[in-house]
Amino acid sequence: MSRLAAEVYRRMDIEGIALKILVLNGPNLQMLGIREPEVYGSLTLEEIDQQLRDAADKAGVEIDFEQTNHEGEMVDAIAASRGVYDGILINPAAYTHTSVALYDALKAVGVPAVEVHLSNTAAREEFRRSSLTAPACVGQVMGFGVDSYLLGLSGLLACLKRS
Ligand code: DQA
Repeated sequence: MSRLAAEVYRRMDIEGIALKILVLNGPNLQMLGIREPEVYGSLTLEEIDQQLRDAADKAGVEIDFEQTNHEGEMVDAIAASRGVYDGILINPAAYTHTSVALYDALKAVGVPAVEVHLSNTAAREEFRRSSLTAPACVGQVMGFGVDSYLLGLSGLLACLKRS
């Protein structure tokens, strides 16, 4: 993020209108660190969250984290984000490839979302190559490990600033 953008966000914070971002992680991501490290890397979810917290602090935005293995709880979290969060950074994990319910929730709530994936799903098994949820998002970043989250956050903030 540019120094100017960081300054704008810092001023927004001082004026009491800090942007609020929800990071929503789906199934099995609580097992990062031990889960197929050759695919997903060796960082735990807590370590990824910490890097995002540091980036959010620098940008002067508030950030909260949720992880659940349950599709309905993800739907609930998306619905509950209306009026609370300005944007959502979402890794729907396996539900990316199956969930009409998450697509509908993201479309319904009207809170801009960016989809992120640690791995490059386009280069993996056939069933991972399509995302049902990405068309309900303003953008998608994948294949860069933890940097997918950091780049996704940066893109989401730039998008919110423009709107
Ligand atoms: C993932 C990719 C999905 O296909 C998989 O089901 C995951 C993780 C990723 O971050 O690379 O659980 O979303």
